[in-house]
Amino acid sequence: MLEIRKYGDKVLRKKASQIKDINGEVVELARAMVKTMYDAPGIGLAAPQVGFSIRLITVDLTVGEDPSSLFILVNPEIKEKEGEDLDEEACLSIPGIREMVKRPFRVLVKGYDLEGKEREIEAEGLLARVFCHEVDHLDGVLFIDRLTPLKRRLALKRLRKQLSQA
Ligand code: NI
Repeated sequence: MLEIRKYGDKVLRKKASQIKDINGEVVELARAMVKTMYDAPGIGLAAPQVGFSIRLITVDLTVGEDPSSLFILVNPEIKEKEGEDLDEEACLSIPGIREMVKRPFRVLVKGYDLEGKEREIEAEGLLARVFCHEVDHLDGVLFIDRLTPLKRRLALKRLRKQLSQA
């Protein structure tokens, strides 16, 4: 299992690098990320959250219940966005905070699987939200950055309290 980096860790604020070669280390990291995500439990994880500043994400809305719903994407990009959706969001790196965040309702995500095959995924609702959240992580963006300034201040206050008690 990998250690999940928490708010305040600088790796969460770095822009992650493109993966040029899907080598054994990348495959191994992806497998470890899936285990860590299931163990947390969470529905999405980005490599910077486990200390690797590279463009790799894992997503599974079923948290391992249905193996066919697992996505492992290398160099993912949100190619198209459509509509609007407001829903609660949380993040394994920001424990105890849940806030409403506006996201596109539908997205087209492009990336590569671990075999280097190009993948195109059309996602809606929660799945679209998770892809947007994880791709944000690769750019050093956290969901609390997408709140209004007041809501962000209040959330950060609660978060600092939580982290100091941990
Ligand atoms: Ni997150």
